[in-house]
Amino acid sequence: MKNLSCHECHRRDFLRRAALGSAAFFSTPGAFAEALTATPAMTEGPFYPDKLPLDTDNDLVRINDEITPAIGAITHLHGTVTDLKGNPVPNARVEIWQVDHMGAYIHSKDGGLNGPKRDGNFQGFGRFMTARDGRYYFRTIKPVLYPGRTPHIHVAVYRKGKRALTTQCFIDGDQRNAKDGLIKRLGDPAKHLMVQFKPLPESKAGELSAEFNIVLGFTPDDGHDEPLPNLESDRMTYEKAKKALEEDPE
Ligand SMILES: [Fe+2]
Repeated sequence: MKNLSCHECHRRDFLRRAALGSAAFFSTPGAFAEALTATPAMTEGPFYPDKLPLDTDNDLVRINDEITPAIGAITHLHGTVTDLKGNPVPNARVEIWQVDHMGAYIHSKDGGLNGPKRDGNFQGFGRFMTARDGRYYFRTIKPVLYPGRTPHIHVAVYRKGKRALTTQCFIDGDQRNAKDGLIKRLGDPAKHLMVQFKPLPESKAGELSAEFNIVLGFTPDDGHDEPLPNLESDRMTYEKAKKALEEDPE
């Protein structure tokens, strides 16, 4: 596949390496005999963007076509949104938001988009429409500590324009998790929010792959969500990258 933008190249490179690391990466989840456990909800917190950045795509490491990327351990965060039976949920909007490498959100109460203590190259927020197989994908940074919390990424999932789940995910094995008040309050179900950040095979730049599969706690009806027009391009970008990989595995 030629003429991919740099943005798509990154994604394609990730998809290729992820496929090398996991033969099942593109397999369709299918229906499971046993019901899955719904991903537990967690508080939204005070820093959901009060003003969305101009760029809200699923590459948080690069804002629009800026040359300088964000600082941090580049992480390919991906997974599948399914229902309790493991059926993929297509056209669900997944949003993430998190602090930059200095611990600042893009919220105006935390310095704002152009605050002096922010990495102006980190998007801080992104969204993605799940593909037909329920998959989503973000390029972001490994979350870092900020006062009072263990490292985390906020996640929200919408169906049919309505918020279906608000939660957070964490670095599996991080010692700071045990001291986090919100994790302690959630108790045992917090294990479903733990994500392994693994080195991406063949990545010379030390990039990471993190898989967070999301199970929505409902049994779906027969209808499908209506895609939001301004997010259609995100979904197409994923499918384009996937197609490119299948056509040209080199
Ligand atoms: Fe937070």
